[in-house]
Amino acid sequence: MARTAVVTGGTRGLGRAISLALRDSGCKVAATYHSNAAAAREIQEASGIAVYQWDVADFDACADGLAQVTQQLGPVDILVNNAGITADATFHKMSKEQWWHVMRTNLGSLFNMTRLVIEGMRERRFGRIVNISSINGRKGQIGQSNYAAAKAGILGFSKALALENAKHGITVNVIAPGYCDTAMVAALRPKVLDAIVAGIPVGRLGTPEDIARVVAFLADDAAGFITGATFDINGGQYLA
Ligand SMILES: NC(=O)c1ccc[n+]([C@@H]2O[C@H](COP(=O)([O-])OP(=O)(O)OC[C@H]3O[C@@H](n4cnc5c(N)ncnc54)[C@H](OP(=O)(O)O)[C@@H]3O)[C@@H](O)[C@H]2O)c1
Repeated sequence: MARTAVVTGGTRGLGRAISLALRDSGCKVAATYHSNAAAAREIQEASGIAVYQWDVADFDACADGLAQVTQQLGPVDILVNNAGITADATFHKMSKEQWWHVMRTNLGSLFNMTRLVIEGMRERRFGRIVNISSINGRKGQIGQSNYAAAKAGILGFSKALALENAKHGITVNVIAPGYCDTAMVAALRPKVLDAIVAGIPVGRLGTPEDIARVVAFLADDAAGFITGATFDINGGQYLA
């Protein structure tokens, strides 16, 4: 039976590749987005993947959106918490808005989305949850105290959730990508980007597919013995 997968931020960047990889492994995929309707239309037309618009930082919007997904595709078996943003500033210049916008979108969303699917997964005794953290949640980064805090918070959250649900057929794992070729990284200044690539031992940025194939592996029925783990996929840039 085809599994139902929800990929937050599943229409662009890493999320787009993750949605396609899960579709290729036989899942019914719901790709969510926030405001870029053109990107959502593009993946829907190119792949037939169903797209849904809601703000993952808003619990009620997540509840409404997930109810729609469940009605149209069935109960959620696989959740990929991928949606994320940056709002960079050194901490002494960071506004309250920059702090909470990132915390709500990158960490609060994990409460919102996961809380709404976890009881059903426990009842059905199957679930795969993959949370997308970041190399900068592992090692810190200048200008990203908000982002690093949220992304490091994902690690603790995932380990606790993995332990609570290990006996219920649910696995919870984290991927901490290094710098990958997406809009988020393209927004960096060229000089900054050159310096980053120079610091990656494999000598290139990651591709969205480098991340997506590991998500599909972890989401598979056969991956039931892998839980509470963090996968650093960063071309050797940071070795934990
Ligand atoms: N790219 C990298 O090198 C890198 C490295 C480490 C970690 N990551 C993490 O990987 C994840 C994906 O990054 P990316 O580079 O693929 O990002 P991206 O290209 O900027 O795409 C972000 C996706 O998240 C969605 N999104 C943003 N805010 C949202 C909200 N409030 N509600 C619902 N959806 C929202 C966006 O929707 P719209 O299209 O509507 O805006 C978009 O689909 C993020 O969590 C990021 O922190 C990325």
